[in-house]
Amino acid sequence: MLNPIKLSKKHFLSSLDTSREELINILEIAKNFKNKDLNIEHKDKVLGLIFDKSSTRTRVSFQVAMSRLGGSTVDLNPTTSQIGRGEPIKDTARVLSRYCDVLAIRTFKQSDLEEYAKWSSKPVINALTDLEHPCQALADYMTIKEEFNDFKNVVLTFIGDGNNVANSLILYGALLGIEVRIACPKGYEPNNLIINKAKKLYKNKNLLKISNDPFASVQGANVLYTDVWSSMGEENQKEEKDKDFLGYTINQNLVRNADKNAIILHCLPAYRAKEITDDVIESKKSRIFEQAENRMHTQQALLSSLLA
Ligand code: CP
Ligand code: NVA
Repeated sequence: MLNPIKLSKKHFLSSLDTSREELINILEIAKNFKNKDLNIEHKDKVLGLIFDKSSTRTRVSFQVAMSRLGGSTVDLNPTTSQIGRGEPIKDTARVLSRYCDVLAIRTFKQSDLEEYAKWSSKPVINALTDLEHPCQALADYMTIKEEFNDFKNVVLTFIGDGNNVANSLILYGALLGIEVRIACPKGYEPNNLIINKAKKLYKNKNLLKISNDPFASVQGANVLYTDVWSSMGEENQKEEKDKDFLGYTINQNLVRNADKNAIILHCLPAYRAKEITDDVIESKKSRIFEQAENRMHTQQALLSSLLA
């Protein structure tokens, strides 16, 4: 029987906190959960959710995933807990990890997430930071694998901001040896640290392509992916970024230049008519809602691997 592999690292703060083998195992376990071929119990285990930013998918999919494992969640709202008052992370982490068996944290700085991990006696999961969104990338690669059966010859093009979502996609792309193309306006390229880490992993360094030309980037691509132009915390840059990203909308014109069997992904929430048009989200090529569903299955698999 297929069993979760206990992750060699205690925390899941970045896509690269799993090995390639562990990643493949998580995706396989997730597929089995989805098909109802696997039943794993973590009865009475408690997941603490600390969310400094809004969330629909991540929060609810973690809650349901944990309940499907027989466990429960505690939803910690920073405004009603002492986190909002500024209690030091090192105190919060030491206390909460005495109550909870695992913590999922959504916050701004990756260094704050690392501080939680440093002081927590239990596994800490990155539920999104400004730098990475590795739980999202798990669901994204599960959705790609469902469509194409394996990752061989898949070309993934991300059009938009070189942000947290793009960074985690790049790192898993490198781990899986997939061609990843990023098309973004000048000045919005992914973080150099991420690019360097990815390049170290790629056997063929040419498989990671960063450009400012969306049309060239989608030629022959199998997956077109986008995310909001202004992320949470960047609300005051909206006007400027809307101007800078003109021409980077995934619309039918761009889709026509991709492979004829290409699929469309978006992590959601979307701003329709900005980074993606309404007709593309609603088109037959869209796998956006399967992708959202897969958040739950991959996180159930991730929790099983961290708690194994
Ligand atoms: N994709 C994603 O993380 O969505 P939420 O912000 O709703 O959690
Ligand atoms: N890049 C977006 C992702 C939302 C799921 C943000 O950080 O707001």
